[in-house]
Amino acid sequence: MAGRIPQSFIDELIARSDIVEIINARLPLKKKGREYTACCPFHNEKTPSFTVSETKQFYHCFGCGAHGSVIGFLMDYEHLDFVDAVETLAAEYHLEVPHEQRLNRVGSIKDQKQPLFELLEQASRLYQQQLRQSNKAIDYLKQRGLSGEIAKRYRLGYAPDSWSFLLDKLGDNPGNIKQLKTTGMVVEKSATKRYDRFRDRIMFPILDRRGHTIAFGGRIIDSGEPKYLNSPETPIFHKGDELYGFFEARRAVRNLKRIVVVEGYMDVVALAQSGIEYAVASLGTATTREQIQRLFRSVSELIFCYDGDAAGHQAAWRALENALPVLRDGLEARFLFLPDGEDPDSLVRKEGSEAFATRLNNALPLSEYLFDKLKTEIDTNSVDGKARLANAAKPLLAKIPASVFSDLMYERLAQLVGISASKLNDEQPGADTQDAPRPKATFIPDKRQIRQNALRDAIALLLQYPAVAEAREIPDFFATSSLPGYALLYELYQTVKKNPGIPPAAVMERWRDQEEFEILEKLLLRNVYGTEERSGQAKVFSDAVQRLIEKHQRARFEILEHKLERGGLSESELEEYKSLLSR
Ligand code: CTP
Ligand code: MN
Repeated sequence: MAGRIPQSFIDELIARSDIVEIINARLPLKKKGREYTACCPFHNEKTPSFTVSETKQFYHCFGCGAHGSVIGFLMDYEHLDFVDAVETLAAEYHLEVPHEQRLNRVGSIKDQKQPLFELLEQASRLYQQQLRQSNKAIDYLKQRGLSGEIAKRYRLGYAPDSWSFLLDKLGDNPGNIKQLKTTGMVVEKSATKRYDRFRDRIMFPILDRRGHTIAFGGRIIDSGEPKYLNSPETPIFHKGDELYGFFEARRAVRNLKRIVVVEGYMDVVALAQSGIEYAVASLGTATTREQIQRLFRSVSELIFCYDGDAAGHQAAWRALENALPVLRDGLEARFLFLPDGEDPDSLVRKEGSEAFATRLNNALPLSEYLFDKLKTEIDTNSVDGKARLANAAKPLLAKIPASVFSDLMYERLAQLVGISASKLNDEQPGADTQDAPRPKATFIPDKRQIRQNALRDAIALLLQYPAVAEAREIPDFFATSSLPGYALLYELYQTVKKNPGIPPAAVMERWRDQEEFEILEKLLLRNVYGTEERSGQAKVFSDAVQRLIEKHQRARFEILEHKLERGGLSESELEEYKSLLSR
């Protein structure tokens, strides 16, 4: 992968680009008052609720809640990852994207990977060529009901029955042989003994999100062991991050909304042939959090599709656990269990794509699956059983980021066990009263904080009107305060101070990969009462900071008092306690 893109370039790119211009080129906008509007591209609507603000350089849909900067828009609208979105945007303004050099002696990491991509691309072409020449392989695919067209779209190939097919074709010098080993295409037993990993197999190339061939899965023809053989982990292939068929699905479906996660290569290809072109397969393992996160960056709905047997349920539960931490509002995960003995490939052939699509439409929402599963395991008729259900569910629900969805899940649990949601919430772990500075701000608002608006106001104002940073200094102790959000506010303040004139959307980019990003996005849109005038902005900001300082002091006082009762204040703590006492 290329080196990091320097922050200064992203600042400049956002400062130079115009979100109205970029969106308008893709989705015609109409000027309405100070903003621009259109029908939202992220949900179906007849009257426009998608608005773009030129001053904030931000878009927001009042219908579905979609929002973001110009980079966020490109990511969502064109299904790009961050780097690709930055490159697309830079290209529009004829800017070259610099990458911080992470050079080592052999060259940059990008330089090391490129030849491997090229090598596997060549191997893939050779396999495809072999398929066209092998009656055995063609007959097998036909017998499995695959069309030539679909085989071509998924670049299926055939590795001939030879110990040295690739070695002969591509291993003509030591450098190439080394690369064949690095990519796992050739296995080396000793300096003179090496051979092709894949022999006499149908080859499924695995592409990364940009379409590079990074690995293969190979199926034995007819029977034999192992049925599937996969590339090992290599510098360009990390099984837990990749998904078979994702690149193909994004290419096939414009405006992809939903993805079905299945278990097998054949399932993906068979579903695509029957018109369900949005299936991907996790690569022979449980679906990981990274995979789910990656999918949710492109679509808002995931359907996990598994066998109805015990193994299928186990895989589904693992997927559920991995999905919980990434479920933000607006994202949906559902589960579909297939009848015994069927997989998507066999079922779609038997029933046809419409029946299969109906099954998908009726898939179980995650919430139902979660509670149903717990209820089948725990008898909830007794008081004791209810307590056990609550105890089993709480750690799961605690994984969900604070959101409307999480609130609803707690309410549902409360109903099931017959106590109030607030009581359940009170017992939630994480109420942080310990006297230890947190290493990094985590700002996950819980119910208690929702009404404490000073923090939100201060952050919102710093984002929207960076000039307020001049109105009131934020003391250094915010950086290490154990109160949630303080460190975030401090970091934001420092960023704004150090980069005068920086556009809000550029400030936010610093948090893109972090939990706080979403909260910052929401706060950028927050209307803070009394800030229409510039003087009002400074005053509201300064008041908010004052309230936060006082709140911190009260919290410190309580902590110190508590410690004092147990007899353990250090000299400096005693000093602090006295000064707080005299206030
Ligand atoms: N798998 C694997 N290694 C194996 C068996 C399976 O990596 N030895 C992975 C493959 O990704 C495979 C998936 O698990 O596609 C599902 O395996 P299975 O259900 O056994 O195969 P199917 O996909 O149904 O394949 P087919 O229909 O060709 O038998
Ligand atoms: Mn199968």
